[in-house]
Amino acid sequence: MLRALSVVAAIGIGALGVAFAAGEAEHPHNYPYSFDSPVGGYDMAQVQRGFQVYNQVCAACHGMDHLAYRHLGEEGGPFAAYNVRDHETGEEKMQVGRPEHGGLFVDVVDNPWVRSIAESHTISDVDPNSGQLTDRPGRISDHFRRPFPNEIAARASNGGAYPPDLSVITSARHGGADYIRSLLVGYDGHNEGALYGNLYFPGGMIAMPPPLVEGAVSYADGTATTVEQYATDVSAYLQWAADPHMEQRKRTGIVVLAFLIALAGLMWLAYKTIWRTEAH
Ligand code: HEC
Repeated sequence: MLRALSVVAAIGIGALGVAFAAGEAEHPHNYPYSFDSPVGGYDMAQVQRGFQVYNQVCAACHGMDHLAYRHLGEEGGPFAAYNVRDHETGEEKMQVGRPEHGGLFVDVVDNPWVRSIAESHTISDVDPNSGQLTDRPGRISDHFRRPFPNEIAARASNGGAYPPDLSVITSARHGGADYIRSLLVGYDGHNEGALYGNLYFPGGMIAMPPPLVEGAVSYADGTATTVEQYATDVSAYLQWAADPHMEQRKRTGIVVLAFLIALAGLMWLAYKTIWRTEAH
């Protein structure tokens, strides 16, 4: 018995040793996001702030090829606009973000927030007259501007490492938004050349310099401008980008569930009625 135990212990210690030698990353911290629960939706103010962080910081190195500017203003998007009638004055006003109740969705073509985001980016395009490449302001139909023209240029600017596209990164990485959030706050300060120690990155050293600095992005809604808050918000935004139809899916799920419960109730009543006179 003792011998068996010591063998098990030896194997255990051996396995631990291997794990450490391989630079086993820490398990991501489980942050209580609003979208974690089976019925929870996105906190759109948070997704808006997260877009701001992506746009002002991460977009310098990471593209999001699957997204066009118009996606930001579609129903379920962080900058969706609604026309809301003021109860007292009766005046109609356009606002960004879903109102508590009522409100008429504004087609993304007429959404001034999305238009201004698109126009703030410079897109390289073929000039319709000269046929030469030329710069023009972005349109809502444009896909997000790419930081580098190709992978070679991206690697050349990043010490040989490739900043992956972030369109579906929360689905592509185990741990999703929790992993991204932990990664962004997980720098341990031990650098080796162009590699930065990070507790959550497999292998322990990442080629991405710590991207977030306290106060670097200003928030209009008074939310704290700390590294941790930026990391939390940008990860929520990346989660939305990878799964923009989650809210719709959860709503459908609830309706289907309610229907099934009602159906089960009806079946039970029918059963009781049909077998009422029979002893069984
Ligand atoms: C200066 C350029 C730069 C900036 C700015 C930057 N990154 Fe990165 N990022 C990189 C590089 C390079 C890699 C590849 C690292 C590697 O493979 O070691 C990377 C990798 C990543 C990864 C993938 C990690 C993995 O598991 O493979 C994520 C997620 C990420 N970055 C998110 C972000 C977010 C979010 C921001 C903005 C807050 C950001 N990055 C800003 C350069 C950058």
